[in-house]
Order: sequence, then structure tokens, then C-alpha cells
Amino acid sequence: MNTILQKAVETHNLEKDEIIYLLSNDELSEELYTAADKVREEYVGNEVHLRGLIEFTNICRENCCYCGLRRDNTNLKRYRLTEEQIIDFAHKAVTYGYKTIVLQGGEDMYYTIEILERIVKAIKSFDVALTLSIGERPTQEYKRLKEAGADRFLMRIETTDKKLYEEMDPGMSHENRKRCLNDFKVLGYEVGSGSLVGLPGQTVESLADDILFFKEIDADMIGIGPFIPNADTPLRDASNNNFDMSLRVMAITRLLLPTINIPATTAMESLNSNGRIIALQSGANVVMPNVTEGEYRKLYALYPGKICTGDTPSHCRGCITSKILSIGRTISNTKGFHKRR
Ligand code: SAM
Ligand code: SF4
Ligand code: FES
Repeated sequence: MNTILQKAVETHNLEKDEIIYLLSNDELSEELYTAADKVREEYVGNEVHLRGLIEFTNICRENCCYCGLRRDNTNLKRYRLTEEQIIDFAHKAVTYGYKTIVLQGGEDMYYTIEILERIVKAIKSFDVALTLSIGERPTQEYKRLKEAGADRFLMRIETTDKKLYEEMDPGMSHENRKRCLNDFKVLGYEVGSGSLVGLPGQTVESLADDILFFKEIDADMIGIGPFIPNADTPLRDASNNNFDMSLRVMAITRLLLPTINIPATTAMESLNSNGRIIALQSGANVVMPNVTEGEYRKLYALYPGKICTGDTPSHCRGCITSKILSIGRTISNTKGFHKRR
């Protein structure tokens, strides 16, 4: 085995220049994926955790240059689900066997803290774990949502390159993003973060910094997604060739944070028809099938080519189950919290 990979497998530590080396040498990719798959099996086993994803609003006050939900995109029909719809979709997801519900949406301030607290409490009454991915809010609101029962929070740092972040997310600050991640930790949430791979101007050096950052914040989950250019955004002409680099970032993340939960992301499958299975065989142990119903799936248009937009929750549940079983893995029937060693 390559000596740097061997060091990663044995110690779960690498220097920045070693991470850069692994990211930059495609001829090592297959060996890297095999090593990450072995570490995954040793530390988190063969179970795959399914999280039912509800995309509850495509309205957003932010203007991230890469995202189809950005407020300046006038080509998108906007929607927000009612409290009743959200709770109904969550309830149906539980009947399909999901043990975790993820609520994800734009930064839509229609959902006041009082509304969110009611939704969190209602979903938690179904005996499931609940993950929020609702963007930046004041510390006090995160505190109330934790007290209402939310278990986890997902917020990607997107990139640890502060200058690039602030160019890509105009009006947002890197400090505030980090403040949010720190709040989650202090308040007792499981902390999920991650990066978008392939942003114009992003370097392998900064991707290496991202991986070291995940270690530094002691994350519980890390989601790595390829950036997919969207014609309704300022980054419409950017390169769309980000699958392999995303997979390498994900695999190295598994080597350095062996016990965490790592999703095979929807964006990976949107770029490669077998992307989630490839990711599950390169370090991932989580999949987040969509449990939103009806036309909303199509309207949650972050990027083009998004999978499952015409499918139902029950179809997706069956589809992903058979794919996972076909590679000799099993579906977990636990809530799938991060087990530290
Ligand atoms: N608004 C919340 C936030 O930004 O944290 C949660 C929802 S946001 C749509 C979820 C993730 O979508 C972002 O963290 C970003 O990485 C990803 N995303 C947005 N646009 C994308 C694109 N064009 N390609 C791939 N992923 C994208
Ligand atoms: Fe809004 Fe999140 Fe999209 Fe940024 S990435 S525009 S915060 S939904
Ligand atoms: Fe939705 Fe396969 S997971 S169609």
C-alpha cells in the first residue's frame, strides 16, 4: 500500500501536504477508495442508515452564487409547506421505516421559532431522530429547538477558504457560519458539516484545509457534494467535472474521522447514475432518500439533473433498499447516532 495511505489507515492522521498529495494523484484513487471502504467496515460496520429528507421550503433570504434557491433567481416557482404537510410527510416517512427525519430548506423566516418548535415537538412524538438543516439563526433559537427535541444540525461550511466563501455567499460571513457550528456543539446537537467540491477558484490546498477543519471541529457527520452548475445562477458556466474530486475528499474524510456518519450524497448520484453506490463503497454509510411528496421535489431545484424528482417516497424507499442489499450491505433499524470509540 502507498505509505501515506498506510499512515492514514493506521493513525487516522495526515499532514496537510499528505492530504494534498492524495487529492492530487488520481492514480491512487482506487487504492484510496478501497482503504476508505475497509476503514468504514471496521469502524461503522455494514449497516447503512437511511434518513428521510423533507424539503420543506424553497424560499431563501440568502443569495449563494451556486444555489438555485438564491433569492435573485426569478425563474423558480416558490413554495413553502404548511405545518400540517410537514408533519404529515414526516409521519408517512416513519411508516416507511425511517428512523431519522431531516428537515431541510432555504433560510425562510416565515417559519418563526414558535412554528419551528411546534413542528419539532410533533415530529419527535413519532419516536424518531430529527435533524435540522435550516440555515443561520440566532443562538437562542438553536437553543430552543434543541430543547424542543431536535437531535442534529447540518450546516456545511461549504469551503474553509474565507475569501472564496464570502465571494460565493455574498452578504454572509465565515465567522457567523463558524459561530453556528460552535453553537451546535455547545448546545449538544450532533454536528454535521461538509463542503461543496469544485467551486470556481477552490484549490486542493483549501480542500485539504476543509478535511482538517472537519477534524478540528470534531464533527459527527460530514456530507461532501460535488458542485453542479445551475443555469439560473451566476455560476452557470462553471465546470461540472467534480465527481471524482468529491469522492476523494469523502474517502480521505473517512480515513481521518473513522467513526463518523458520512452520506452518499444525492448530488453524487445526480452526476453519476451509480454515484451513491460508488460512494457507499468508498467510505459512506448513510443515504438520505427524499420523502417530500408531489411537485415540491422538482421545485427544490438546487442544481439541474437532480434525481428522484418524479418519484414517490415509497418508490424511492424500495429503490434504495434494493440497491443497498445488492452490494451486500444491510439497512439499519436504529436511529444511527454517531458512536465514538
Ligand atoms: N439553506 C441551508 C444551508 O445553506 O445550509 C440548507 C439548504 S442548502 C440548499 C443545502 C446544501 O445544498 C448547501 O449546503 C449546498 O452545499 C448545497 N447546494 C446548493 N447549491 C448546490 C449546487 N449547485 N450543487 C451542489 N450542491 C449545492
Ligand atoms: Fe439559501 Fe442554502 Fe441555497 Fe444558500 S445554499 S441560497 S442559504 S438554500
Ligand atoms: Fe429515488 Fe431511486 S432513490 S428513484
